[in-house]
Parts: sequence; C-alpha cells; structure tokens
Amino acid sequence: MSNSELIEQLNNMLMQEHACQIRYATHAAVVSGPASEEIKERLLEISGDEAEHAKKLRDRIVALGGKPTLKVHEADLKEAYDLASILQINMREETEAITAYTKILETVPQSNVILYRTLQDIIQDEQEHLEELTNLL
Ligand SMILES: [Fe+2]
Ligand SMILES: [Fe+2]
Repeated sequence: MSNSELIEQLNNMLMQEHACQIRYATHAAVVSGPASEEIKERLLEISGDEAEHAKKLRDRIVALGGKPTLKVHEADLKEAYDLASILQINMREETEAITAYTKILETVPQSNVILYRTLQDIIQDEQEHLEELTNLL
C-alpha cells in the first residue's frame, strides 16, 4: 500500500473512531433498566477508549505526512434506546472495526514498529470491548 493510500485508510478509521466516541457516549446517556448505572459507566469508559484511538490515529497520520480528518463517519452514528439494541449495535460495530483494522495491519510492514504496534494495541482494545459487551448481554 502506498503512503497516501495508508493515510487514506487511517483517516477512514479516524472518521469511524469519531463516530464510535459519540455513539458510545450517547448510548451511555440513554441506557436504562436494571444494572444501568454499571453499564452506563462501562459505555462511557469505552467512549473514552475510542477517543484515545482517534488521538493515536491522528498522531500516526501526521507522522506519515498526512492531515487528520475532522469528519465523522455518519453511518456509524446508530441510535438505540434499549439495552439489547445498544449491545447488538456495538458488538457489530466492534466486529467490523476489528476486521477493518486487521486488513490495514496486514499491509503494514512489521519494521514500521510504531504504526504496527499502534494498530495491534487498538485491535486488542476493540477485541476487549467486544468481549465485555458480549458479557453484558
Ligand atoms: Fe476504536
Ligand atoms: Fe471499540
């Protein structure tokens, strides 16, 4: 993958991370029902993780000579108001993010240690998110 293609792919993930941060924060605000306090807290923590992913991506994009996007991937801004839908939507989104990041990782040479490890760290977080959401079901 060329440098400019890589920057484009990372910017595409950055748009998705922007949406993930907003989506989790909104779902945290609206979730209700038994154990909702614990779930709210967890969703807010995940929202913070997604913000951290966005920060890491911006730094890597700048390091590659690119410009980090301000855009939000609107298709990922999925409304939900009940716990089952909230969990389902986010489990699907996490699964898609893991697939997308893994595809990008496959094109990055391991010698590019910073980017390689950054992507691995993000994938690990997304896998942990997926596992936690599955356990909340
Ligand atoms: Fe993320
Ligand atoms: Fe995530």
